[in-house]
Amino acid sequence: MLVNLCKDHSLVSNWISEIRDVTVQEDRMRFRRNLERIGEVAAYEISKTLPSIRKDVQTPLGVASHQVLQSQPVLATILRAGLPLHQGLLNYFDKADNAFISAYRKHHKDGTFEISLEYVSCPDLNNRVLIIADPMLATGASLVKTIHELEAQGKPSAVHLVVAIACTTGIEHVQRLAPHAHIWCGDIDEELTAKSYIVPGLGDAGDLAFGAKLQQ
Ligand code: URA
Repeated sequence: MLVNLCKDHSLVSNWISEIRDVTVQEDRMRFRRNLERIGEVAAYEISKTLPSIRKDVQTPLGVASHQVLQSQPVLATILRAGLPLHQGLLNYFDKADNAFISAYRKHHKDGTFEISLEYVSCPDLNNRVLIIADPMLATGASLVKTIHELEAQGKPSAVHLVVAIACTTGIEHVQRLAPHAHIWCGDIDEELTAKSYIVPGLGDAGDLAFGAKLQQ
């Protein structure tokens, strides 16, 4: 399943417009908060697809019956750029367990790069709903590698990917190599540069959220 949360005029469309805008990007806190809000909306939309059970609650005046989540998902994030989206998911799935993974582009002298995964901290994923946050789905290489690395820690009952901006190349890569993963994105762009940046995209999400880093 592929869902574009920006489709139809919505607040997500407003927030995506702001995170792309070079003038608004100067406000790093607003950039992070907008990603967080996109994570919150994604959490709400994903929650409608999750297994629920009926629960009776005692009010001061009687008994009310509601569908509630059958179990909590595991929220996973790719460090560091995924942290604001992750926080948004965690604001809504506030009892979730969490997983963290570090993935970065290790650049070679010839301009190519490989995805390096170095840190994995993860609960048992067997029969759990796994939701992975990464703001930019560019080539899809780091997300696919992350899915496979996390699935080595147990077989989730479902896998959801939450991204702010996805590129069609990356969507196709994920659909080819992890066809079971549901993709929830803030918007979809068509172009990828030779250095695998999304166009028009927004630039480097990690740098915009947390500041520039030394190149690896
Ligand atoms: N990561 C980013 O931060 N931006 C892109 O355009 C692609 C990957």
